[in-house]
Amino acid sequence: MASVTSLSDNVQQHLASALSATLPEAAGADPLLRRSDRADFQANGILALAKKAKANPRELATQVVSRVVTGDVIQDVEVSGPGFLNITIADKAITGNLAARYADETGRLGVPYAEHPGTTVIDYAQPNVAKEMHVGHLRSAVIGDSVVQLLEFTGENVVRRHHIGDWGTQFGMLIQYLDEHPHELDHKAAEVTGEEAMSNLDRLYKAARKKFDSDEEFKTRARRRVVDLQAGDEHTLAMWQKFVDESKIYFFSVFEKLDMEIRDADIVGESGYNDMLAETCRLLEESGVAVRSEGALCVFFDDIKGPDGNPVPLIVQKSDGGYGYAATDLSAIRDRVFNLKANTLLYVVDARQALHFRMVFETARRAGWLNDDVTAVQLAFGTVLGKDGKPFKTREGETVRLVDLLDEAIDRASAVVREKAQDLSEEEIAERGAQVGIGAVKYADLSTSANRDYKFDLDQMVSLNGDTSVYLQYAYARIRSILRKAGEVSPAAHPELALADAERALGLHLDSFAETVREAAAEYAPHKLAAYLYQLASLYTSFYDKCPVLRAETPAQVENRLFLCDVTARTLHQGMALLGIRTPEKL
Ligand code: ARG
Repeated sequence: MASVTSLSDNVQQHLASALSATLPEAAGADPLLRRSDRADFQANGILALAKKAKANPRELATQVVSRVVTGDVIQDVEVSGPGFLNITIADKAITGNLAARYADETGRLGVPYAEHPGTTVIDYAQPNVAKEMHVGHLRSAVIGDSVVQLLEFTGENVVRRHHIGDWGTQFGMLIQYLDEHPHELDHKAAEVTGEEAMSNLDRLYKAARKKFDSDEEFKTRARRRVVDLQAGDEHTLAMWQKFVDESKIYFFSVFEKLDMEIRDADIVGESGYNDMLAETCRLLEESGVAVRSEGALCVFFDDIKGPDGNPVPLIVQKSDGGYGYAATDLSAIRDRVFNLKANTLLYVVDARQALHFRMVFETARRAGWLNDDVTAVQLAFGTVLGKDGKPFKTREGETVRLVDLLDEAIDRASAVVREKAQDLSEEEIAERGAQVGIGAVKYADLSTSANRDYKFDLDQMVSLNGDTSVYLQYAYARIRSILRKAGEVSPAAHPELALADAERALGLHLDSFAETVREAAAEYAPHKLAAYLYQLASLYTSFYDKCPVLRAETPAQVENRLFLCDVTARTLHQGMALLGIRTPEKL
């Protein structure tokens, strides 16, 4: 049996049965168990239950206490204040639980799978074809990747979808421009790939855009080209395909730099739903969910109005017959619900698209595609700000290329690694520099709750002190070095040993990894895992300061402390992996 019941779940069960024996109508009520400074755990739920049952809270608490079975797990329970319960855990239960986690041969540290896993389709990492990836694309990729790891760890069936922007008016513009200016991507340029090809494409995009905005006749020709594209004209389609292929090579290179696995089969861009668009419109119109208004097919909402007080509709089909972003997203919902059999649709997308998703989801609900059993959620994230607190821009006021930022992070991190390096070769410094630099960028993003803006501050991100991935990576490497130094002596649990305060605090926190993961996955909140790991490293530091490991008093104590070190290392390693961050063995 690999899965381990955590101490807090165990105590929770003890309390729940004592509670329902005392007050049958309270069966199933939550005793509100929390970690506490005064005891190991505190239960605050009795107060509200007593109030509801019109009972004296202290008396009720005293009766519950008399029914709690103490012994192997709960060493002591007492009433405190107006009716709280203070609970102390037996040392041997702490060590014993960690030993069971340590023995889990699957490497999952005894974390159980969710009881009722479902299928989640997650829409994340969605850059746009022929456009440079900028800092805004960082968050969707980093947050999305971590949520994928978290959900899969709980046993959820996860289907990944990269909804890249690969269709629409801008491609008519691009193709028309390139046809008229073939020299802009000459045969030499056509052979370059990756970064260089992308910056050519990006330049082409900007030039085409400029002409489109200033030259009415070109605009008309570009629009006609969109019609050709949509009608499947061979030459036009071939040019489009070249843009897509070229851009994908570039995307893959950026995701690789981000140390992130993106699979080609999961890239289903906007164009992937072309065949469904007409049907989507027909279904919406026939059911009356959408109506014709000035030639366009629209969905109206009572509570969504523009500044002039007039309702703002979701336009599913434009009056010229064209389909836009909404039609694609509604078709994608049908695909994900009916073909991929999703229970949950998750969208990791910028908060500035919140209105779009509100309208799209509500439309899908009215159409019956979403309901109580199949739900859609936007995991909306805030903006990346510069040091000055304004949206991140270059000195010239341009958006910052993502690769440039990543390269700078790697450079800075390599300098930090080099400075501290003791026995690392040049090659190792380069490898660790990338792991530390990319980890720093990811951690900074994941350690604030997604919906908040955050400042992109490389100095802070690669700092060795404070809430950074570098700090966590060094903590991990230090533990690994202690374990190497122990030589012949192996870590081993000794549940019979009494624990020092710092050992208890570390042990209880280690045991709560399972709950943290459960909560972070259920709430799509990697920042809760990040906060947990940071606290873990801090608790480990105080343990290490107060409790000598290799020079502990008895051989059994040396083994037991090495064991605590090793469980900490494994937990850090697993936790960081769920954030998509590497933990090098040596730094
Ligand atoms: N490509 C879009 C952008 O860069 C994000 C796509 C989000 N996903 C979706 N299903 N609409 O803004």
